[in-house]
Amino acid sequence: MRARAYNQTAMQPKAITVSELYARFAAGEDLTKLGEIIVEGWVRTNRDSGSIGFISLNDGSAFKAIQIVYNDKLTNHEVISHLLTGAAILAKGEIVLTPGMKQPFELHPTVIEVLGDVDPDYPLQKKRHSLEYLREIAYLRPRTNTFEALYRVRSVLARGIHEFFQDRGFVYVHTPEITANDAEGAGQVFTVMTPDEKGKLSDTDFFGRRASLTVSGQLHVEAFALAFRDVYTFGPTFRAEKSNTPRHASEFWMIEPEICFADLEDDMELMEETIKFCIRYVLEKCPDEMEFFNGPFMTPGLKDKLNNVLATPFRKMEYTEGIEILQKAVKDGHKFENNNIYWGMDLQSEHERYLTEEVVKGPMFLINYPKEIKAFYMRENDDGKTVAACDCLVPGEGEIIGGSQREERYDRLKAKMDAVGNTKGLEWYLNLRKYGGCIHSGFGIGFDRLLMYITGITNIRDTEPYPRTSSALKY
Ligand code: 4AD
Ligand code: MG
Repeated sequence: MRARAYNQTAMQPKAITVSELYARFAAGEDLTKLGEIIVEGWVRTNRDSGSIGFISLNDGSAFKAIQIVYNDKLTNHEVISHLLTGAAILAKGEIVLTPGMKQPFELHPTVIEVLGDVDPDYPLQKKRHSLEYLREIAYLRPRTNTFEALYRVRSVLARGIHEFFQDRGFVYVHTPEITANDAEGAGQVFTVMTPDEKGKLSDTDFFGRRASLTVSGQLHVEAFALAFRDVYTFGPTFRAEKSNTPRHASEFWMIEPEICFADLEDDMELMEETIKFCIRYVLEKCPDEMEFFNGPFMTPGLKDKLNNVLATPFRKMEYTEGIEILQKAVKDGHKFENNNIYWGMDLQSEHERYLTEEVVKGPMFLINYPKEIKAFYMRENDDGKTVAACDCLVPGEGEIIGGSQREERYDRLKAKMDAVGNTKGLEWYLNLRKYGGCIHSGFGIGFDRLLMYITGITNIRDTEPYPRTSSALKY
């Protein structure tokens, strides 16, 4: 039992969480035999009709609330009957079973103590609030159904990721957040500045060279793959992209596995296995939350969609075929915002979504992209025009994974790095190709986008607890 933080001299019974109550009830325990217990939490609703009142209490341990049914025998009945949504309280009493009712049991308290009262201007009221409104009060939104469910799934999903990789023998590597390289070579880095001796901000004074926040742990984790065979990194990533879309954030979490003696096919197999594992894991570990996300206010049909994904192999499509399909769509009258489709273009989200939503109608891999539009480290195919790259596209979002087989041939990689001008400072990365290099592959899953996909939430500003996007840094 947690040490009592309050002055509860008269109260010695066990404090118990709502989640434990439901778990013990589900296991067949007779909760009425518990005797007096204490529950602590926040009032979601309070209805009083004179002699009897109902508080729906959420203690954060479970998506479900517990109903507290009180009467006017409470010494502070006047106060309790006027308690507002959001107040923190403690209730002592016994569990009463209520078969046939919405909740299988309720608490009948002899004491309710107000631990933290709430001002009437509390921004969360009983009515439904829009996600946009709640985004403005990110510090309070975890107390709403939607965000309580979302952030518990987020936590469970993070654990699932670790379980998945660790159970398969992958070594978890903490790659640095401050780095000297722009792994993707796309110039979207945030520079790290410190005051120099004169107090002037400098980007080189501290480290003696330019430093930035990482855009990807891949290059660092590749070195570990070449020692441990199978590794992954999972941490925050930063991109100074001014893309104002529901899927782009300046700070997001990425999972980056890297596997040795593995080509693009092996890579895709692992991607598919990872996504399917994550879906299964969340469906199994968060049944109440997923039922909620599947419900009438959220995304009806979500669970069917996910179960369908589990049952279907991901389709693989060549980039070249994708372009042909898009060109045909335009010819047949489909209107994209950008209708200028040509081989060599970088696909926009609307194009990716057309392929995954209209053509494949499910998750898919788009593979073998033109080398000019992909990062320098990707392995060049024998055609001399494409690289062994792969994006995993899903309906509703477009890309959630980017991956590739890495260029393991020293000369080819050096030529490419020389051409894009990033050899200096990355000699160590090139050396990996000289010192026992081997065929290896990897990918990066946007964790916040994966969470969007699994919960049906359509904006990354919601799947991230405190989103950072350009011109938006509130908390
Ligand atoms: O495709 P990306 O840029 O690939 C890499 O960073 C590789 N180094 C990964 C690897 O092979 N190890 O990013 C990978 C994924 C994207 O598919 C997307 O899901 C997510 O990271 N992502 C973002 N998520 C949110 N906001 C952004 N601004 C994102 N940029 C990429
Ligand atoms: Mg990408």
